[in-house]
Amino acid sequence: MNIIVSGANGQLGSSFLNCINSYNNIKMYFFDSGELNITKKNTLEKLINKIKPKYFINCAAYTDVNKSEKNSKQCFNINCLSLNLISNICKSYNCTLIHFSTDYVFDGKKKFPYIEYDIPNPLSIYAKSKLCGEKEIFNSGVNFLIFRISWLYNPSFNNNLISKLINQIKQNKDIYAALDEKSIPTCANNLAKNIMYLIFKYKLKKIKKTFHYVDNGNAVSVYKLTKFIKNISYLKKYKSSIFSIKSSEFNNSLIRPNYSALNNKLFRDKFKIQEDNWRNILINNVKEYYL
Ligand SMILES: NC(=O)c1ccc[n+]([C@@H]2O[C@H](COP(=O)([O-])OP(=O)(O)OC[C@H]3O[C@@H](n4cnc5c(N)ncnc54)[C@H](OP(=O)(O)O)[C@@H]3O)[C@@H](O)[C@H]2O)c1
Repeated sequence: MNIIVSGANGQLGSSFLNCINSYNNIKMYFFDSGELNITKKNTLEKLINKIKPKYFINCAAYTDVNKSEKNSKQCFNINCLSLNLISNICKSYNCTLIHFSTDYVFDGKKKFPYIEYDIPNPLSIYAKSKLCGEKEIFNSGVNFLIFRISWLYNPSFNNNLISKLINQIKQNKDIYAALDEKSIPTCANNLAKNIMYLIFKYKLKKIKKTFHYVDNGNAVSVYKLTKFIKNISYLKKYKSSIFSIKSSEFNNSLIRPNYSALNNKLFRDKFKIQEDNWRNILINNVKEYYL
């Protein structure tokens, strides 16, 4: 069975590379943005026709939330319009589309974790484009799984919240972190591993469903998350101090929901995957990758 992974050089795409030899009967084909630009219909058609994948795992996306405000055309092109192309081609080849969306589709006004049936109200261009992509997939009639995720981190990358905080701690820098911005960290390597397991175990051929996927545990503010990381035994020796501030003190607070924790119960109940608590997962990642 063949699987295509797009956006292979990104955080999540790279996490799927770790799964390449996990299952004997699965052959994975990875494409970075140079090899497969998801906005190009001809390239998509040629590759899908050649490889005839059973699953197309789309890790490609425009992910710079701040820059999206000025680059809305490019952002919508990649995060929305290309999902129309991918969905329609996948549908005609009977290929299930696995795609990723964001906690930012919500406006943050809720005070407890968002479920799949809550009504989205995206604040930023990025979040609007991601919701638009979800709708393209849904309307196409393709078989799909969309996972909405939050605070994704791959320890091999420096561009995520967790890696940035750890790097600042290791440089003994003082950190000003928002007390009123709350969500739940999600480990990219575990997400990729779990999706491969789902494909192997459940086949997922006739499915059209959106799930919230985050590591287990309660929502945490960026401030408390930073304190938690600083207190992990291996990082205690560093001298950075952590100060709480309001998210409104950041220029870009208006385009980010203050509260965007996702409830992962639907996913856990459906697939019986018992993920560990985000705190334990994070401690293990610090031990394995960040020291
Ligand atoms: N990071 C988070 O905290 C977070 C939270 C919620 C949801 N998500 C979602 O999770 C998914 C994975 O995110 P990530 O953190 O892995 O993103 P990432 O590290 O920014 O990777 C995105 C990848 O997409 C590629 N790409 C951009 N435009 C493309 C195009 N037109 N054609 C093909 N590839 C293209 C990029 O390649 P180049 O670098 O070469 O442009 C990059 O390798 C995305 O759908 C994102 O919206 C992420």
